[in-house]
Amino acid sequence: MRHQYHPLGFDGSRIAQGFWRMNEWNMTAEASLGFIEACLDLGVTTFDHADIYGDYQCETLFGNALALKPALREKMEIVTKCGILLPSSNRPDINVHRYDYRAEHILASVDRSLAILQCEYIDTLLLHRPSPLMDADEIAQAFDLLFTLGKVKHFGVSNFTTNQFDLLQSRLDAPLIINQVELSPLALQHFEDGTLDHAQRHAVTPMAWSPFAGGELFSGTDEKAKRVRAILGEMAQNKKCSVDQLVVAWLLRHPSGICPVMGSGKIERLAAAVNAVSIELSDDDWFRVWIASQGHSVA
Ligand SMILES: NC(=O)c1ccc[n+]([C@@H]2O[C@H](COP(=O)([O-])OP(=O)(O)OC[C@H]3O[C@@H](n4cnc5c(N)ncnc54)[C@H](OP(=O)(O)O)[C@@H]3O)[C@@H](O)[C@H]2O)c1
Repeated sequence: MRHQYHPLGFDGSRIAQGFWRMNEWNMTAEASLGFIEACLDLGVTTFDHADIYGDYQCETLFGNALALKPALREKMEIVTKCGILLPSSNRPDINVHRYDYRAEHILASVDRSLAILQCEYIDTLLLHRPSPLMDADEIAQAFDLLFTLGKVKHFGVSNFTTNQFDLLQSRLDAPLIINQVELSPLALQHFEDGTLDHAQRHAVTPMAWSPFAGGELFSGTDEKAKRVRAILGEMAQNKKCSVDQLVVAWLLRHPSGICPVMGSGKIERLAAAVNAVSIELSDDDWFRVWIASQGHSVA
C-alpha cells in the first residue's frame, strides 16, 4: 500500500533558525521561550535541530521552553535529524563516533526527540549524514512506520550527494523534501557539484547550514575569508546594509530557493537576516562575491 504523503513538500519559512549552539546561549527556559516567540514574530517559523546538538542537550532545552507555552507548537515547523552516534557522558550507551541508520535506531531516535522536545510530531526528519552502511530499504520501512504512526510528517536528508539522495528516494513512497548542506560565500562546493541543480529538478528545498561559515566570514584570517570580507564590506557600504544581510541576500538570490539556517542566538541578528529578504542583488554583485571566494575570475 502506498502511503498518502503530503504533496506540498517543504512548507516552512524563507529563513530558518538553527539551534545547534543553543546550549551556548545560556538562556533560562523563560528566555528561550522569549527567543522562540521573537523568531515567530519575525515570521521565522522553521526551527532546525538534531538529536546530537549540544551534546544531546539542545532538544531538551528547546522542549523545556516549548512546554511553557505548548500552543506555540502549531505555529512552527520542527526539523530534526538522526543518524550520528556521538560518544558523550550524556549517552554512555554510545561507544564509537559513527553513523546508524538501522530502522531500530531511527525509530528510537525519533521517540527520544519527541519526548524531549515535548511534542507529538516532527514536521521533517532528516538523515544527518550519509553512511556507507545505510540500507535504503530498511530506512524506507522506518519512514513508513513513522509516517503511519503520525510521528513524522515529512522526510529529508542532509549532506547527501545527489546519488545518495536518488538511491534513497528510489526506495521511498515519501518524497524527500529537503537536502541540508553547507552553503555560504566561503563554501561554494555544493553550488558546483550538482546538489542545487538536482534540488531544482526534484523540487527539493536546499537548506544552507552555516550560512556565515560558522562565523569565519567575520573572523577568518585566511586569504579567502579576507577577500570575501573585503568585497562584502565594500558592497554593504554602497547598499547601506550590513555584511551579514548581504550574505543572506546572496544565498536567497540563487534560483534553487535556498533556505538559510541562521545560527546566532541574538534575535537582532535574525531580524537583520529577515530584512535582507528585500535586498536586491544584481548579477554583477552576486558574481563579485563568487569571484572573491574563488580567488579568480570565471572561465
Ligand atoms: N546539517 C548539518 O550537518 C549542519 C551542520 C552545522 C550546522 N547546521 C545547522 O545550521 C545552523 C547554523 O549553523 P551555524 O551556527 O554554524 O551558522 P552561522 O550563522 O554560519 O554561524 C553562527 C556563528 O556566527 C556568528 N555570527 C553570526 N552573525 C555574526 C555577525 N554579524 N558578526 C559576527 N559573528 C556573527 C555567531 O555568533 P553569535 O552567536 O555571537 O551571534 C555564531 O558563532 C545550526 O544551528 C544548525 O541548525 C547543520
